[in-house]
Amino acid sequence: MRVVQTVQALREALRPFDSPAFVPTMGNLHAGHLALMQQASQHGDVRVASIFVNRLQFAPNEDFDAYPRTFEPDCAALETAGCDIVFAPKEADLYPQPQTYMVHPPAALADMLEGQYRPGFFIGVSTVVMKLFQCVFQGAKASGTAFFGEKDFQQQLIIRALVQQFEMPIAIQTMATVRDTDGLALSSRNNYLSAAERKEATRLHQCLQTMAGALRAAELTPQAIEEQAMRDLKHHGWRPDYMAVRRRDDLQRPDVGDRALVLLGAAKLGQTRLIDNIPIDL
Ligand code: PAF
Repeated sequence: MRVVQTVQALREALRPFDSPAFVPTMGNLHAGHLALMQQASQHGDVRVASIFVNRLQFAPNEDFDAYPRTFEPDCAALETAGCDIVFAPKEADLYPQPQTYMVHPPAALADMLEGQYRPGFFIGVSTVVMKLFQCVFQGAKASGTAFFGEKDFQQQLIIRALVQQFEMPIAIQTMATVRDTDGLALSSRNNYLSAAERKEATRLHQCLQTMAGALRAAELTPQAIEEQAMRDLKHHGWRPDYMAVRRRDDLQRPDVGDRALVLLGAAKLGQTRLIDNIPIDL
């Protein structure tokens, strides 16, 4: 496995290959990232991962500086998972001049849920993903594939639409959320939780499952189900941003008869903000 830092070094390393399989990350890798890497190793003729904590997707009050950086163990784990090239640019390598051109995803997809509580987040994500895709796939002779986790459900929908609207010859593959044995979705931010918070953290997933049960029972409206979940979390000391019942393909509120849904939640426990979702078919 090679580690490259500059865009030029990445392109040189990729030149002999036709069809990259790419896993973008911000590092501090867990089993969810490694499952994506293993999936990627079944595709293309070269496997690439990026490790880059992207300042553009953090608001000034968020955890950019504190975000865990664990480069050496990340590289070791990527190598074991079948990665051929790690692209690990410094900020000045990826943004040699201030990034003034930005990718603005459409409000209908990006301004609610995460976008409502993290304004500018999806502009930062879309911009860096567009840039990383240019770096990895620009010289590719055949179409490539990029891999994203479904835990960031809204993110993967936005990236699918980005690739489609800009006619990028890149297939997007997603993987189901990887969970700890007690149901907590794996996330780099779980490292921030105290022992007591870690125990409590499973409630977010449990609440989503309760919402799914209530939807299947069809006794309450989606709005009443959302409100009940918000109350439950607040009662246990959480500060929820949203607990939402949405259509899976466009994240709009469901109409009567919509069957492919996703339940999404975001809430703060102490200083840590967690997100999770579960797709359901009625
Ligand atoms: O999901 C993430 O880790 C990040 O948002 C991504 C896609 C690597 C862009 O920085």
